[in-house]
Amino acid sequence: MFRAPGRVNLIGEHTDYNDGFVLPIAIDRETLVAARARADRHVRVYSVNEGAGAEFDLDVPGPTRRGLWLDYVEGVARALERRGVRLCGADMSLLSDVPVGAGLSSSAALEVSTGLALSAVAGHDVDRVTLALAGQEAEHTYVGAQVGIMDQFISALGRKGHALLIDCRTLEATPVPLDTSEVAVCICDSRVKHELAASEYNTRRAECERGVALLREVLPGVKALRDVSVTEFEQHAGRLPEPVRRRCRHIVTENERTLNAAGTLRRGDLDEMGRLMYLSHRSLRDNYEVSCTELDVLVEIAKGFEGVLGARMTGGGFGGCTVNLVRRDALEAFSTAVVERYRYSTGIEPAVYVSEAGGGACEVEGGEGR
Ligand code: GLA
Repeated sequence: MFRAPGRVNLIGEHTDYNDGFVLPIAIDRETLVAARARADRHVRVYSVNEGAGAEFDLDVPGPTRRGLWLDYVEGVARALERRGVRLCGADMSLLSDVPVGAGLSSSAALEVSTGLALSAVAGHDVDRVTLALAGQEAEHTYVGAQVGIMDQFISALGRKGHALLIDCRTLEATPVPLDTSEVAVCICDSRVKHELAASEYNTRRAECERGVALLREVLPGVKALRDVSVTEFEQHAGRLPEPVRRRCRHIVTENERTLNAAGTLRRGDLDEMGRLMYLSHRSLRDNYEVSCTELDVLVEIAKGFEGVLGARMTGGGFGGCTVNLVRRDALEAFSTAVVERYRYSTGIEPAVYVSEAGGGACEVEGGEGR
């Protein structure tokens, strides 16, 4: 039996595919996989959540981008084999409590848990970075989303009680202790997912690349927006047309905020952390333009609430969740108020989760023979 968690990103949004920094935690919701090896090369998967089974043959590449949950499983299997991890067939059963479509990376949890299960039953101890990269490749090839590495990386390598400061260029991760004794990580699900999400994601990536090409004319060493400081950016911002300028401003300032945020967490200065989160949200809303009314409503509710230190949208945007830092003594009142006020403003019933920072993918102790 194997598991891999979903994630929530504390700060550092849309920076991963710009070679930048992110600061996510693995949450205590996960996908569980029971698996056993087969003598042939058939992979048979049953999803308890879907109440349905599906299968593929490792020797017969199936069609990509079918829009099925199997795409994630088949995609990661093929990506592992491409990396030299020879798999065998398997019978697998999946169960997940990561909400689907909520921006908490249920897909990364699915890729990483099944990738781990498939490689383990085939007798391989695949290193976790390879596992994360295989999950990301599944998104690129089988699912058709040009995502960065954050979600799969934190699902594969999360550390209990810590956020990870991930350098998405070098793939080095530094654990940053997250003290939740007085302040909780509270996740508010807007319960909306706007159609725009996928196409706008790819447009933002292209706008960032355009910005890099233009900035490189005056800053020849620049390979990605990660290489541009806030001061350099402001010096040369005039060369960039809108909206490319706003997009780049978000990335450059968000990288700086993320590095600062890791420092504030280490110092235990959660007030400052909260301030950075509000700034991040404002930039995602106004510069990167990936928020939406529902997410803005959730952040505004948080802002006006005594005991909330910070709030921002988390993940790709256009729906999904906000992440909030809330004093434990205000948590109950906040949860009640969010539900009431959000429902009043939007007519939608939100979901509220509190999560500790959990560990990354692993074999479940005592899974054998359960
Ligand atoms: C999605 C992607 C990540 C990252 C975030 C935005 O979750 O999967 O790679 O780009 O959006 O930060």
